[in-house]
Amino acid sequence: MSTIPSLAALEAQVKERPLPRHVGIIMDGNGRWAEERGLPRLEGHREGSNSVREVTRAARRVGVEALTLYAFSSQNWSRPMEEVAGLMDLLREYLEKERKEILDNAIRLNAVGELDRLPRMVRTPLERLRDESSANRAMVLTLALSYGGQEEIVAAASRLVAAARSGTLPDRPLTPEAFAAQLWTAPLPPVDLVVRTSGEHRVSNFLLWQSAYAEFIFTDTLWPEFRAHHFLACLAEYQHRERRFGLTSAQLPK
Ligand code: FPP
Repeated sequence: MSTIPSLAALEAQVKERPLPRHVGIIMDGNGRWAEERGLPRLEGHREGSNSVREVTRAARRVGVEALTLYAFSSQNWSRPMEEVAGLMDLLREYLEKERKEILDNAIRLNAVGELDRLPRMVRTPLERLRDESSANRAMVLTLALSYGGQEEIVAAASRLVAAARSGTLPDRPLTPEAFAAQLWTAPLPPVDLVVRTSGEHRVSNFLLWQSAYAEFIFTDTLWPEFRAHHFLACLAEYQHRERRFGLTSAQLPK
């Protein structure tokens, strides 16, 4: 009879091999989770916040350096007004409720996206926690909020165009590294793993530039049901992938 390994056993197992430094998650399936239960969609997002808490704890415990969560896309502004308002309330609630745990666990809270589009009631606790946690080094938790990968690339290109126009752009060929330095995610480590829940096989404008060499894991589990052991199972699967970065298998260090 096969037994399901305990959370502690799974954690010990993934800690034995190199971990992805930076994991991005497309937290999809909240609406379907709620609809399957005859609940309002917002209840799916609410249950999804519990998954956020569990997965963040697990990532911190095993030693992932950076976790980026796709919480609200630039395109999500076009959802029904009540859903957008409910999500903004949830974000505010999350930032207030999780503040102590984030600070107690030396997590640095970061955010990427068109943050000036967020309502003040989200921006204020977000900026406060970002400032309060700025010296924390155990893990960086980035919320992608009002975020779009295309929007981010256009903003980076616009900054370079402005620098060129004003004569402050160094007169040397632009490299991928110099371009990446203009992205909102610039100081974060490269993205090693992107996970998308809910059975959809799309990137949906998430970390388009940064995921160039990331491994992808698509799981059928809906986000509100995706908990610590699902996350650890993704890390374990990542640890069995061979990352070649364009090389052949034989060229890789043994
Ligand atoms: C996509 O599922 C999910 C979102 C648009 C919002 C994600 C938000 C949370 C997980 C909760 C709040 C976040 C934090 C950080 C506390 P969907 O609504 O598109 O699901 P569906 O495809 O089943 O309709």
